[in-house]
Amino acid sequence: MMKNIYQPYPAKIERIVDETFNIKTYTVKFINGDIAKSFNYKQGQFVEISIPGAGEAPFSITSTPSRPGNLEFTIRKIGRVTTKIFELKEGDLLHIRGPYGNSFPFEEVEGKNLYFIAGGIGLAPLRSVINQAFDHRPRFGEIKILYGAKSPAEFCYREEIPIWKKLPDTEVLLTVDNPDGEWQGNVGVVTTLMDKTKLSPLNSVVYVCGPPVMLKFVMLKLIEMGFKDGDIYVTLERYMQCGVGKCGHCNIGDKFVCVDGPVFSYRDIKVFPERERAV
Ligand SMILES: Cc1cc2nc3c(=O)[nH]c(=O)nc-3n(C[C@H](O)[C@H](O)[C@H](O)COP(=O)(O)OP(=O)(O)OC[C@H]3O[C@@H](n4cnc5c(N)ncnc54)[C@H](O)[C@@H]3O)c2cc1C
Ligand code: FES
Repeated sequence: MMKNIYQPYPAKIERIVDETFNIKTYTVKFINGDIAKSFNYKQGQFVEISIPGAGEAPFSITSTPSRPGNLEFTIRKIGRVTTKIFELKEGDLLHIRGPYGNSFPFEEVEGKNLYFIAGGIGLAPLRSVINQAFDHRPRFGEIKILYGAKSPAEFCYREEIPIWKKLPDTEVLLTVDNPDGEWQGNVGVVTTLMDKTKLSPLNSVVYVCGPPVMLKFVMLKLIEMGFKDGDIYVTLERYMQCGVGKCGHCNIGDKFVCVDGPVFSYRDIKVFPERERAV
């Protein structure tokens, strides 16, 4: 953790990858070498990225702690800050403070099967723990990634997914809502993939991220399939300001998403009214 938790530090954009028509992945490096070295993060954490004159917004770290040197964010253009970020080019600067929040369980789930269920840009935070698991492959059981997008052109990480597919004891299943003429794969929402492979509720944990409606139906189906609510982890989004538990903007029940989350077990959040938890 950096010394002053509110202090943003400049980072240079080293690489920009166009993922979809409105999503890009940015690889960045802190200008100050000491900051770069001391920036230790965990899978599932987020940062606040600011652009002078436009404001700041929280973004998940999509790179993986076991691959130091590469700090990556996958960003969807949606409003003021993200529109400004999309105007930046390789070599330009972003300002980053963090990392903030808790993380996906990792050491605690050693020996278990890992299932990942994502929709759209929801794969961004999961990618961090997915690659972390691949970097420690013998420590886990089977790995299955179920990923849905609106159309084939709206999958993120289209270069990386074929690499994941070839890894041992790993299955990657894709689905789209709207196929194009060339799409040969599954058509339907991501829950339809849950019937196309065997997901064992025994000795397994599930990590889920996607739009609220997807989260809701995935949770219902996992519980129906016999998964325990404490074995299901979801990462939540809320409007944030401080990012460090001071302003009260991001509460869900008595929890602050910025410090108690953004990763929650379903057991922890299901006690809150549905309208608050958006799951
Ligand atoms: C912990 C955390 C991690 C996040 N990680 C990522 C990430 O990895 N990549 C990423 O692209 N975003 C991520 N977000 C969401 C991102 O912070 C917001 O989309 C943010 O509002 C973008 O700032 P902006 O100034 O561009 O948009 P704003 O100007 O704040 O919003 C513009 C308009 O878009 C609407 N809007 C804003 N956010 C959303 C949304 N998420 N869904 C639907 N409508 C919305 C607003 O209602 C508003 O009308 C994360 C959020 C949190 C809390
Ligand atoms: S964003 Fe301020 S308390 Fe969470």
